[in-house]
Amino acid sequence: MKSHSKRICIVGCGGFIGSHLLEQFLEEPDLEIEGVDLRDEKIRHLFGKPGFTFHHRDIYEPGFVDEITARCDTIISLAAICHPSLYNKEPLKVMEASFQRPLEIVQSCSKKGVRLIHFSTCEVYGKTVSAVSNGCSLDEKMEEDTTHLIMGPISKERWIYASAKQLLERAIWAHGRHSNLDFTIVRPFNFIGPRMDFLPGIDGSGIPRVFACFMDSLLFGKPMILVNGGRNKRVFTYITDAAKAVLLMVRKPEAARGQIFNIGNPSNEISIQELAKKMRSLYPGLSGQPVPDRCTLTEKSGLKFYGQGYDDCDRRMPDIKRAVSSLGWKPKTGLDDTIKLSMAAFIEHYRAQ
Ligand code: UGA
Repeated sequence: MKSHSKRICIVGCGGFIGSHLLEQFLEEPDLEIEGVDLRDEKIRHLFGKPGFTFHHRDIYEPGFVDEITARCDTIISLAAICHPSLYNKEPLKVMEASFQRPLEIVQSCSKKGVRLIHFSTCEVYGKTVSAVSNGCSLDEKMEEDTTHLIMGPISKERWIYASAKQLLERAIWAHGRHSNLDFTIVRPFNFIGPRMDFLPGIDGSGIPRVFACFMDSLLFGKPMILVNGGRNKRVFTYITDAAKAVLLMVRKPEAARGQIFNIGNPSNEISIQELAKKMRSLYPGLSGQPVPDRCTLTEKSGLKFYGQGYDDCDRRMPDIKRAVSSLGWKPKTGLDDTIKLSMAAFIEHYRAQ
């Protein structure tokens, strides 16, 4: 097993989360960061920073994973497809990107004695017990080692993503117990902030996640769609708080070893309908523009918006005791600031488009 020196590779460093990890990690003079991605629009401002090497390559090119694990001490694995609009449209690609390919990274880390910090998803918890038991209310906090993982039926293809991610977590766990893999699994709970996702037709295509959908509606005068009435709830976690948690995992390898961590802000819960209303009320003050007339609140079924096979998680409330006690982490950004900071960044970035 290699000792914990400071060469870290971030696979998927060009995405939303990766770009924020890079920003924080490059402030740490003792860390040498290698980043791998096929896209670099979100990280160009970091090119040339001391300690950063960027590989504009596909991590799954034959031999490349082994090349990276041969010279790095820690791999942070972020690469996946994480947009719910694709789960029921491209299920086989989702399974490949979220299980088959990243399994190569797990196996290579296990073989070479390299530490792995793997990004999973809060979606592995699936639905709450009350959602599947006629509203019987139980303690709904999701706790890493005790909460059951409740997926919908196979015909609800949305769950292929959560199932793929769950199977990968199980593979990582097994490598940890039986092959001594030094691993940490992160379950992110709806991180938002600057550079999240894309706006359709501007810097991407398809349907992004809900915060970007609503910003698209506000900025470009389109209806804000409340899927199934927007009743479901999420906790929105500010990306800078989340990136700090990952830095603590890097800095406290013994506390993080063999652990799964919920990373989310339990104080920031809101229903999607309330989120839409809050964003509408904040928009004029942040942008200096009124909410456009065409940006109405419009209800649509999940079937109409996402297509056959869509299903949803009703609520995801993280228990973060483990991250608080083992890492000394606590999210600091409240809901209003999380939404305001994220909206302001989108307004600044996209207004000129
Ligand atoms: C997604 C991913 O599946 C997870 O992997 C990821 O961990 C999670 O986001 C996250 O960001 O952490 P989800 O929360 O369902 O899961 O993604 P969103 O697309 O942001 O949807 C949130 C809710 O908003 C859903 O109920 C959805 O139906 C609704 N929605 C979405 C709308 O009401 N209107 C929209 O325009 C878009």
